Amino acid sequence: MCERTERLRAMEAPLLAWYRSRARVLPWRENRDPYRIWVSEIMLQQTRVEAVKPYFERFMEAFPGVKDLAEAEDDRLMKMWEGLGYYSRARNLKAAARIIVDEYGGCLPASFDALKGLPGIGSYTAGAVASIAYGVPVPAVDGNVLRVVSRVLGDREDIKKASVKARLERELGRVIPTSEPGNYNQGLFEVGALVCVPGGEPKCGECPLHALCLSGQNGWWREIPVKSAPRPKRVEERTVFLIEQEEKILINRRPPKGLLASLYELPNVLGHMEQGEAAAFLGLPLPDICSIEPLPSARHVFSHVEWHMIAYRLVLSREAPKPRPFSSAFMADREALKREYALPSAFAAYRKLIG
Ligand code: ADE
Ligand code: SF4
Repeated sequence: MCERTERLRAMEAPLLAWYRSRARVLPWRENRDPYRIWVSEIMLQQTRVEAVKPYFERFMEAFPGVKDLAEAEDDRLMKMWEGLGYYSRARNLKAAARIIVDEYGGCLPASFDALKGLPGIGSYTAGAVASIAYGVPVPAVDGNVLRVVSRVLGDREDIKKASVKARLERELGRVIPTSEPGNYNQGLFEVGALVCVPGGEPKCGECPLHALCLSGQNGWWREIPVKSAPRPKRVEERTVFLIEQEEKILINRRPPKGLLASLYELPNVLGHMEQGEAAAFLGLPLPDICSIEPLPSARHVFSHVEWHMIAYRLVLSREAPKPRPFSSAFMADREALKREYALPSAFAAYRKLIG
C-alpha cells in the first residue's frame, strides 16, 4: 500500500474515538433524518455553524418535510433565507424537493449518484447526506476536510484545483470505514472546525491526528494547504436610495435572473452620485423633497462582484409621485418589510436605519 493511503488509513481509529467523545451537540445531529441533514449541509456550505443554527430551526418549523419545501411559496422561502446569502441554494433546495416528491416518493434517495443528480447537490453534499443519513461509505470533502487531509499528508498541491480535490476524494474513498462513515466524515469536519482551524495556529497539541500528521510534526501548517490566490472581484460603485414617504419605504423587486434574482432591494443605480445629482436624478418637483441627507458608505462582497455603496435618505412629501427612474418600485410599510420581503444583507447597513 502506498504511504499516503497508509497514513490516511491510520486516521480512522483516533478520529472516530475523538469524535464520539467530542462531537458538538447540533440541531441537525438530533437524529438521522435525511431531510434535516440535507438542509443543514446546504446551509453550512457557505455559512458558519453558529450562524446556521437559528436559520435551521426556523426553516424546519416553516418547512418540516420535503413536501412542505416542494410546495413552498417562493417569497416565503426567500424570506426564510434572508441574510444567509447565496440564494440560489434555497432555489435549488426547492427544485430538488420537487424532484424528490415526484420521482422518489418524497424520500431522499440513498445512493450517492442519485443524490448528486439533484439540483444544488455536488459531490460534497451527496457524500455528506449518503454517509451521515444512510451510512453509505463515501467521503464528503469540503474546504475543511481539504485543509485537514492535505496537512496530514504534507501535500503541497493547490487545493483549489478540481483535480487535487478529486484525487483526495478517491483516496479517502478507499479508506473510509464501512461501519461509521457518517461519524468519520463528521469527525473530519469537527477537526477542521475545532482543532485544525483556518487562518490561525492549529491546536496540534489537542489533535487526534497529531501522531500521524506530517504538518503537525514538522510545523508545515503555515504553508499547507496551498491555495492559489482568488481572482480579484469586479468592483461596482452604486448609489442607494432610502426613500421614505409617510412611514413607508420605497422598495423594488429585482429581475428574475442574475445577482439576487427576484429578491427585494432598496432602489439603487450604478455609479456614485453627488447629493445634488442624486436629487435631480429622481426628477421630482423640488417641493416634494422634504429632506435629503447622505448616509454612511457601505461595502458588500458577493462571490464575483463587490459593491461599494454610497447612499442618501430622502423624505418625500405626502403628495410626491413615485420617482420616475424607479417606476416599478413600490412603497412598503415597515411591518411588511419585516414579514414578507426578503431584503438581502447587501443592504443591511441601510436597513438598520429604517426606524
Ligand atoms: N460543516 C459541514 N457539515 C457539517 C456538519 N455536518 N457538522 C458540522 N459542521 C459541518
Ligand atoms: Fe492540523 Fe495540527 Fe492536527 Fe495536523 S496535527 S491535522 S496540522 S491540527
